[in-house]
Amino acid sequence: MVPPVSETQPIDVIVIGAGAAGMMCAITAGQRRRTVLVLERANKVGKKILMSGGGRCNFTNLEISADNYLSANPHFCKSALSRYTQWDFIELVRRHGIPYHEKADGQLFCDESSKDILAMLLKECETAGVRIITRCEIESVEANGGFELVTSRGRFHAAKLVVASGGLSIPTLGGSGFGYKLAEQFGHHLLPRRAGLAPFVLTGEFDKQLATLAGLSLTARVATGNRSFAGDILFTHRGLSGPAMLQLSSYWQTSQPVSINLFPETNALGLLRAAKKQNPRAMLHTTLGQWLPKRLVTMLAELWWPEYEATPLAEITDSALSAIAGKLQHWSLTPAGTEGYRTAEVTLGGVDTRELSSKTMESQLQPGLFFIGEVVDVSGHLGGYNFQWAWSSGHAAGEAV
Ligand code: FDA
Repeated sequence: MVPPVSETQPIDVIVIGAGAAGMMCAITAGQRRRTVLVLERANKVGKKILMSGGGRCNFTNLEISADNYLSANPHFCKSALSRYTQWDFIELVRRHGIPYHEKADGQLFCDESSKDILAMLLKECETAGVRIITRCEIESVEANGGFELVTSRGRFHAAKLVVASGGLSIPTLGGSGFGYKLAEQFGHHLLPRRAGLAPFVLTGEFDKQLATLAGLSLTARVATGNRSFAGDILFTHRGLSGPAMLQLSSYWQTSQPVSINLFPETNALGLLRAAKKQNPRAMLHTTLGQWLPKRLVTMLAELWWPEYEATPLAEITDSALSAIAGKLQHWSLTPAGTEGYRTAEVTLGGVDTRELSSKTMESQLQPGLFFIGEVVDVSGHLGGYNFQWAWSSGHAAGEAV
């Protein structure tokens, strides 16, 4: 049991935020015999860890590279990711005897519960002598030969201050703008922030159709600008979600169209022509229903080819088939927006990495001040990349404080 901290006790490092990055930083610094205090605003630590991966925490990925991250400075993440890798975190998970499995595309999930990851981090914190205070509101931060913090739980002073307060996504899970304000207080430049890994909202012509499609999922290739992702997409009551759409949302710019290829592995025209040859009396509707969910075919027929509703393939010209196939492989729609921070898994943008050391995450403007995790302008793809950034950047700062 780590004894409680008193205001007069000397503290080497204060970490703001007991999420993934903050706890990893605290553990690493504590293992280096630094006196570490973590201040957490919420009533509980690690809320996002608990909610992550549908309750099973997709804690890392077997394949991690800078290509899996969005940042205005794409090389920045390489140093931290290479010095505390997915293999280091997997080793920690193994040492704690936590059962896990690979789900798809290298994504590692707990077999049982995200609680295992949080319990592991708390155990490591305890072993490293890290103190954590929850329900702690930070009222002010001043630099005075170290950092002086006035909080709802007392006044604390430390030589080093690590900001690990996360991003804006999901306010009920701790999403806050605190880290950005603090960065600005110390003269840091912020890159524009917006919701990433967020479901799309559709309006207009789709309002009526979505009610009938909600809950339907299928595999597709989706694209916007020059980025594309293959995977499952899901129709919701409000628009489009599912892994491939969430990935795409991080690259989507307002009013840009999104294109959906409903036949990601095959040539739709080739399939339709072959079907017409083999079974000319079959209806278009029935034919497409072999490959696509029937509810979707009905909706697309109303939208794109009402005149062929009850037409045998033999009576549809090759050029009409070609137009239908073209639509099926390049369904273009323009989302009204995304669901925003209310449901986004991550905040894009944030503290400009050009003013941080990529090796230590220390501010180049204010010595002794560090920024780690989601508050920094490094955001991962879906699939365990965001937690790996939290572990790696947290470790990098923990080694330096
Ligand atoms: P994080 O948000 O985890 O922690 C910040 C902490 O700071 C919080 O505890 C917050 O309460 C606290 N705080 C905020 N303001 C404060 C203040 N003023 N004073 C004190 N404390 C303050 N990623 C992944 O790789 N695999 C996955 O499976 C998932 N799944 C997932 C599901 C859902 C629903 C969400 C919302 C997100 C994910 N993610 C994910 C993303 C992942 O959760 C996220 O990238 C990391 O938690 C970021 O870690 P941080 O420690 O930077 O912030």
